[in-house]
Amino acid sequence: MDNEEKNLIYKGIPLPKAVHSAESLKYAEDFQVRDDDVFVVTYPKSGTTWMQEIVPVILSGGDLSPIQTIPNWDRMPWLEEKRALHLLDARPSPRGIVTHLPYQLMPSSFSQSKAKVIYVTRNPKDVLVSSFHFHGMATFLEDPGTFEEFMEKFLAGKLLFGKWFDHVKGWRSSELKERILYVTYEEMLEDLRGAVVKLSRFLGRPLSEEAVDRIVEKGGFESMKNNPMSNYSLVPGDVFNKEKSEFLRKGVSGDWRNHFSAANEERFNSVYREEMKDTDLKFSWDEN
Ligand code: A3P
Repeated sequence: MDNEEKNLIYKGIPLPKAVHSAESLKYAEDFQVRDDDVFVVTYPKSGTTWMQEIVPVILSGGDLSPIQTIPNWDRMPWLEEKRALHLLDARPSPRGIVTHLPYQLMPSSFSQSKAKVIYVTRNPKDVLVSSFHFHGMATFLEDPGTFEEFMEKFLAGKLLFGKWFDHVKGWRSSELKERILYVTYEEMLEDLRGAVVKLSRFLGRPLSEEAVDRIVEKGGFESMKNNPMSNYSLVPGDVFNKEKSEFLRKGVSGDWRNHFSAANEERFNSVYREEMKDTDLKFSWDEN
C-alpha cells in the first residue's frame, strides 16, 4: 500500500485509515460528553500510553485491576478511533477517554459540558524523533523516509493530526478555564509522584500514600514495558514490527540530540520561533 492509500483526510488532517473511518469520526463529532468524563488530550507521541496507565488507576481509587486486565486501547479508548464505537456509550461513569483531536474538532457537546481535560505537552523535538521511529515500525503508517524528509513533514503539519504548533496553541483556549490541567512529559519524568498527586487533586480523587506509591511504581517505564496490557505486545508483528522499534522505545527526554544534525536543529528552531512568536507560552525546553 502506498503512503496516500494509508491515510484519509479529515477536515484537512491526515489520519491512518487502519484505525479511523468516516463512521468513527462522525461518532466522535456527535459524541455525547458527560460532565464526569475525563479526557486526556495529546499530540501523538507525547505520553498518551503513559496517561492510559495512570489515569484509570486514579479514577479507580488506586485499584490496579484496570491496568492488569484491560489493554490500554480499551481501558481508555481514543474518541476518534473505530474501537470507541463499541465501547464508550455503554461504559459506566466516570469514563476515561483519550483523544488526539485538535481543540476545534472536539464534539459540540464537549464545550457545553463540565468534563475535565488533562493536556500533555512534550518537547516537539522528542515528539518528532519518537514519531519517526513509530512510523518505521507501524505498518499502517506512511513510511517515514529520511529523517530530514520526516522533519519537514512534521514542521509543515503533514503528519497525523496536523501541526504540533496548532495543536498545542489551540488547546490553550481560554474557554476551558479550570476544566483543563496542563502537564508536560518532562515534568512526569522528573517527578512522577508529584505529577500523580497533581492529577489526582485535579480530578477530585484524593489518594492514600500507598495508592500513590502503587501508581508511581506501575507507571514507571520499565514496569510498563513488562505489562503485557500496556506494552503493545498483544499487537501482531505484521502491524507493529518490533524488530524495527519497540512502541515503548526509550522513554527519555533529549533523545533528539542523537538524531538532529546542527543544520536540523537550526531549521527546527527557526520554525519553532516563528510558529510560537504569537504566544506567551514558555516551556522547559525553550532554552535548548
Ligand atoms: P519514545 O519513543 O521517545 O520512547 P504515545 O503514547 O503518546 O504514543 O507516546 C509514546 C512515547 O511515550 C514513547 O516515547 C514512549 O516510550 C513514551 N512513554 C510511554 N510510557 C512511558 C513511561 N512510563 N515513561 C517514560 N516514557 C514513556
